[in-house]
Amino acid sequence: MATSMNTLVFLLACGVMLSVLAPSSADFLTDEFKKWVTEHRVKYKSKAETLKRFGIFKANYLFINESNHNPKVDFKLGLNKFADMTNKEFLAKFTGYTPLTTKPAPTSFRYADTTAPSSIDWRTLGAVNAVKDQGQCGCDGGLQDSAFKWVIKNGGIDSEEDYAYTAQNGTCDATKTKRYIASITGYEDVPSFNETALMNAVANQPVTVSIDASGLFFQFYSSGIFRGPCGLNLDHAVTVVGYGGSGTFGKYWIVRNSWGTTWGEEGYIRMWKDSGLPTGLCGIALDSSYPLLN
Ligand SMILES: *[C@@H]1O[C@H](CO)[C@@H](O)[C@H](O)[C@H]1NC(C)=O
Ligand SMILES: *[C@@H]1O[C@H](CO)[C@@H](O)[C@H](O)[C@H]1NC(C)=O
Ligand SMILES: *[C@@H]1O[C@H](CO)[C@@H](O)[C@H](O)[C@H]1NC(C)=O
Repeated sequence: MATSMNTLVFLLACGVMLSVLAPSSADFLTDEFKKWVTEHRVKYKSKAETLKRFGIFKANYLFINESNHNPKVDFKLGLNKFADMTNKEFLAKFTGYTPLTTKPAPTSFRYADTTAPSSIDWRTLGAVNAVKDQGQCGCDGGLQDSAFKWVIKNGGIDSEEDYAYTAQNGTCDATKTKRYIASITGYEDVPSFNETALMNAVANQPVTVSIDASGLFFQFYSSGIFRGPCGLNLDHAVTVVGYGGSGTFGKYWIVRNSWGTTWGEEGYIRMWKDSGLPTGLCGIALDSSYPLLN
């Protein structure tokens, strides 16, 4: 039979023991799992592992489907590369930022009196590098990145082309890079519990924030303005590279994540701004800082 032949070819090609999956009622999800496994080139070591992952995939699939059909949820989830992981496994691997328990004394806030524009997007201003895939590390590194580009932009080299040009001149590259990063002379904190202060800071430069990235909604975020649910357990460092929108439900922070470009909106998430929570959504207004540059 052609079908079983195809299945066999598939199993051989992928080295996955999907034949152990029960047919009948779960047929549809079995097919979805096979598609996902093929697309993501996943290989499991054993029957037991395959079955376990299929179980998790099914639960995640149904969760995503329910959410996407729920009229009360206006952002979309997607069956991304994390679809065979429980949220607990996911958090252990892809978050892990630990905020300082003893915070340094509050610094001065130089953007207190900024008149912020109604929207800004540092990506279009050439100040943000491409989204990286952090792999299994909860730290972002985004601040260094965006700060670096920001220095390039504002420190005399005035376009990205010039930067590529400089980099192509081999020998100068490494030393120049080091010199620019070294020009970060310190950090200032954004006052907490104040999204206006955060907006003022972001109006001037990308800002590193800590958020609670836990929950399946965050794990499978795909597009739209994310509204949670999420808590205040700050476990993930990301970079706010802009904001925009209008109205009670339309305003958002543009947040650069580090889980690759297949997650969210090309690696970014728009998070509800001015949600009414003093902490900001997912604690986004609790622990923010920006580099000082010279
Ligand atoms: C997806 O959710 C809708 C709405 O709850 C439901 O009718 C449909 O059967 C679900 N699809 C699957 C594959 O579970
Ligand atoms: C929030 O920050 C803004 C901008 O710096 C400031 O004008 C305002 O007084 C702050 N609000 C509170 C409650 O501290
Ligand atoms: C960089 O390379 C370009 C040509 O590719 C050359 O014109 C320029 O002088 C070089 N600059 C330095 C600093 O070597």
